[in-house]
Amino acid sequence: ASPIGSIAPTTPTTTSLFLLVLLIPLFVFLSLSRSPSSGEEREEAPTVTLLIWTRPFGEDQRLPDCWELLRVPGCALTYDAGAYPRADAVLVHHREVAIGAADPPPEPRPAAQKWIWMSYESPAHTPELWRLEGLFNLTMSYRADSDIFLPYGYLVPRAGAGTDARALPLSSSSSSEPPRSLFVAWVVSNWSEEHARVSFYRQLSRYIRVDVFGRAGRPLPGGGGHVVRLLRRYRFYLALENSQHTDYVTEKLWNAVAAGAVPVVLGPPRANYERFLPRDAFIHVDDFPSARELARYLLLLRAQPARMRRHLAWRRGCGLRQPDFWAEHYCVACRAVRRTRGRTAEVRHLSRWFES
Ligand SMILES: *[C@@H]1O[C@H](CO)[C@@H](O)[C@H](O)[C@H]1NC(C)=O
Ligand SMILES: *[C@@H]1O[C@H](CO)[C@@H](O)[C@H](O)[C@H]1NC(C)=O
Repeated sequence: ASPIGSIAPTTPTTTSLFLLVLLIPLFVFLSLSRSPSSGEEREEAPTVTLLIWTRPFGEDQRLPDCWELLRVPGCALTYDAGAYPRADAVLVHHREVAIGAADPPPEPRPAAQKWIWMSYESPAHTPELWRLEGLFNLTMSYRADSDIFLPYGYLVPRAGAGTDARALPLSSSSSSEPPRSLFVAWVVSNWSEEHARVSFYRQLSRYIRVDVFGRAGRPLPGGGGHVVRLLRRYRFYLALENSQHTDYVTEKLWNAVAAGAVPVVLGPPRANYERFLPRDAFIHVDDFPSARELARYLLLLRAQPARMRRHLAWRRGCGLRQPDFWAEHYCVACRAVRRTRGRTAEVRHLSRWFES
């Protein structure tokens, strides 16, 4: 079979099956305790204090009201280390502690206090993990098997009960959009010859034109916040992760989905991506024996709109959520602390787990 033939056409059945089997449990998981809530619940819920130990990357952000944001009641979030003795949990963002910009919280810790380890970088950029073994009670990351799981993005059903008003409705028709006159884009900030994505790009660009933006290419029109707007003019986007690890699927993919550009992905294997989105929603580098064959397929899709539609039809009925860093993370962590109150937990083999 030709590699092109190996991409099965989207049928309504595969898309709805995906929605039922994968999206809804994920959605329910992520939104539990969000639905029907009253003002009273907010009043009565006992408050938990979550101390944010280090500001991720030193960014000084205003802390959210978790009730406003996610309908999580009874959360007191604070950056004030003076709250340590009474904090129910302490959230430690990996980077600052690993590079020595901050110390870990002090020992001995108050009884029943939980320490939460959080990282959203790939294992390749999560250094010195071994130094933090045996300290934590809960993990939080983009990995689905974290104690507290919050991915970079996720799909939700668009209509019906439990609809998330903050989700971006995805459109499968091109009628409401300006025509996509441009072909393939790539935004890259860290150009490193060590990365598989650079050699892939070199291969691919021998056969087709790729517009490169970011530090290594043309400046992004309107700055970094405008990637989605830029991608609305492209048919395809190279969503190439800096390294390949379980569940490490970042905003690169979701920005393409938001913009309606079909993502061409390099990251974990296809089966791993299919935990996050339907099989036709992306083109995986591994679907083709060579960059040349992949280039041929993209040219074919450009020439045949009917085939291109296969990669967009799944969007009907879907919405996209891209959680805000870090407001949503704090509130999801707080919700988990509330739910696990009175229970003990220990994270064993942090590095063996995260680096696997
Ligand atoms: C860029 O990638 C290289 C190679 O993986 C890595 O050592 C470096 O830390 C990265 N730089 C940034 C800013 O992420
Ligand atoms: C948290 O983890 C530490 C280190 O493993 C452990 O000593 C402590 O008992 C745990 N606390 C809770 C509340 O689970």
